[in-house]
Amino acid sequence: MSTLNKERENISAMFNNIAENYDRLNRILSFGIDRKWRKRVIKHIKSKDAKYVLDLACGTGDLSIEMYKEGISVVGVDIAQKMLDIANIKCNSAIISNKATAITNDKPKFILGSAEEIPFTPLTFDAVTIAFGIRNFQDRNIALKEIHRVLKRGGCISILEFAVPRNIIWKRLYLFYFNTILPLIGSVISKDKEAYKYLPESVKDFPQYDYFIDELNRAGFVNLRYRTLTGGVAVLYTAQKKI
Ligand SMILES: C[S@@+](CC[C@H](N)C(=O)[O-])C[C@H]1O[C@@H](n2cnc3c(N)ncnc32)[C@H](O)[C@@H]1O
Repeated sequence: MSTLNKERENISAMFNNIAENYDRLNRILSFGIDRKWRKRVIKHIKSKDAKYVLDLACGTGDLSIEMYKEGISVVGVDIAQKMLDIANIKCNSAIISNKATAITNDKPKFILGSAEEIPFTPLTFDAVTIAFGIRNFQDRNIALKEIHRVLKRGGCISILEFAVPRNIIWKRLYLFYFNTILPLIGSVISKDKEAYKYLPESVKDFPQYDYFIDELNRAGFVNLRYRTLTGGVAVLYTAQKKI
């Protein structure tokens, strides 16, 4: 049973508070590898030929914008308005700097809303992506039902989340970094001690590998699969709604 306070108000306040420093800290704390991880999501989505994608817990829009640049129509949903504001600013500047490549799909829309109550009608999306968001959800079971509801039949999900590596040596190094160095750098730059203490705790709290696959199975998804990234620091979970 989790002791972390994942009430919506608490989580959105935390992300609103770190929004301004979020991208910079992501690049520093992951040594820039987070971008490569998100590319794996896009590769999966493109392999399924998804045209209309919901990027749930989109945050500052990194994944949404990259999908948009690949010609995919995207809607980003998140509970933290300040994260969405940054997503909009970044998206507008991406459009200006990409004018020459003439992107033809619609500009992503960024909407305030929660995974537990997705503001869309059933059978809307070809795919749902979530990058580093699902471990923060207040009620994962309700959210998975909601995702299942808004997906078209045969639609896919691509969920990227941190994990604790299973290799003993890698795990020790990772836990040292995650429990000591990361909260220190995070709190100095963001001035929010709690948010970067919450990060490693929320990762350890999240059901990993086969445990999460079981949850997806119970939520009615099929073709369940996971791939470890960077020695298991992150995991890409993929699945499909039955046709
Ligand atoms: C670590 S950030 C990830 C942001 C972005 N996907 C990325 O790859 O950088 C987690 C995001 O999940 C959002 N979030 C947390 N709980 C949520 C919920 N129940 N519904 C929608 N978004 C949620 C937070 O507001 C935050 O923006």
